[in-house]
Order: sequence, then C-alpha cells, then structure tokens
Amino acid sequence: MRAVIVYESMFGNTRRIAEAIADGLSQSAVVRTVRVIDADPNVFEDIDLVVVGGPTHAWSMSRPSTRRGAPLHVSDPKSGLVLEHGAGSGPGVREWLASIDQVRAKAAAFDTRISSPVLFTGRASKSISRQLSRHGLSVVAPPKSFLVDKKSHLLPGELERARAWGAGLATQVGRLGTLSA
Ligand SMILES: Cc1cc2nc3c(=O)[nH]c(=O)nc-3n(C[C@H](O)[C@H](O)[C@H](O)COP(=O)(O)O)c2cc1C
Repeated sequence: MRAVIVYESMFGNTRRIAEAIADGLSQSAVVRTVRVIDADPNVFEDIDLVVVGGPTHAWSMSRPSTRRGAPLHVSDPKSGLVLEHGAGSGPGVREWLASIDQVRAKAAAFDTRISSPVLFTGRASKSISRQLSRHGLSVVAPPKSFLVDKKSHLLPGELERARAWGAGLATQVGRLGTLSA
C-alpha cells in the first residue's frame, strides 16, 4: 500500500503528529509526508490512502486571516513556540482542498486542537473529512483530533496515540483492500 500525508502546521504540532502517523502507517505502507505548501498535483499518483491534517483555527480549518494571527502567539519568548519554516507562506489545507480535482483513493482526516469539549473548540478534521468526500475520496475513518494544552503544547501521549492511529488505519485499509479484491 502507498500512502501520502498532507499537512499544514504553524507551530509544528500538526507536523509532529503527521510524522507520528507516518511512523505508524509505515509498518505496512510506503508513506510520504508532504507539507501542504509543497503538495503538487502529482501528490496523488499511485496512492491508495490520502491522510490530510491541519490545526484547528477559529473552530475549523485555518484561513488566511487566522494564519496571519498565528505569529502573535510566538512573539513572547516565554511561549516556547516557534514558527515552522515557510509557515503562512502558501495555501492552507482549506485552499488546497478547494483546488484539487476528483481523486479515487481512500482517505482520513485529522487535526490538532485544544483539549476541551469539542463544542468550545471546534475541530478542523470534521470539515477536512467532508471536503475529502466531496472530492470523491472514500473516507475510511472518523475525523480524529490530537490535543494540545491552552498554550499550544502537545499533551503527553499524543504522539503515541497518533502512531497507533496510523497503524490502525493501515490495517483497516489493508483489510478493505482484501475485501474488495
Ligand atoms: C489563530 C489561531 C486560532 C486558533 N483557534 C483554535 C480554535 O478555535 N480551537 C482550538 O481548539 N484551537 C485553536 N487554536 C490552537 C491550535 O489549534 C493549536 O495550537 C494547534 O495545535 C496548532 O497546530 P500547529 O502547531 O500545527 O500550527 C488556534 C490557534 C491559532 C494560532
């Protein structure tokens, strides 16, 4: 199986989660991890599974206006946050998803968001998942959130959870492939 993970990240949380998911998937798949700003039209070539993730901004996927707001969060050195290289320089997941054609592959969505009831935080993964379906992708797992604290630091155990989710996805897609063969 061949998989690609396309992600957006400003402070590195979603990137680290994407890398951990890739680690889990790689037990039974060949995996590429691509920043959304580097995702070209060939990104889907020979791909069985597309995994897309981004940070939750203003209850959903980021927008140009919310991405412009992100550097304010890192301006205090005590924040412990650092902007990712190229952060905010290109499209986010929202604009990228709007630009892609119909794709025939399996798919799953994830996000990072603050650890509070989803009613208060929103979650980008739900809208990402909806957009993946609209583009013809067959979504094989419910949208998944990985959690940060109120200062945007990943909670302990989230990388392990991401690794396990990636491994589970690979198993599930492998099983679906066998059933449809
Ligand atoms: C402008 C902005 C808006 C945000 N809005 C929300 C929000 O509505 N809900 C939430 O749970 N987290 C929100 N967050 C927190 C981010 O989702 C969280 O820090 C995420 O892990 C950042 O991922 P990244 O490091 O990959 O950019 C927001 C962060 C920023 C910078």
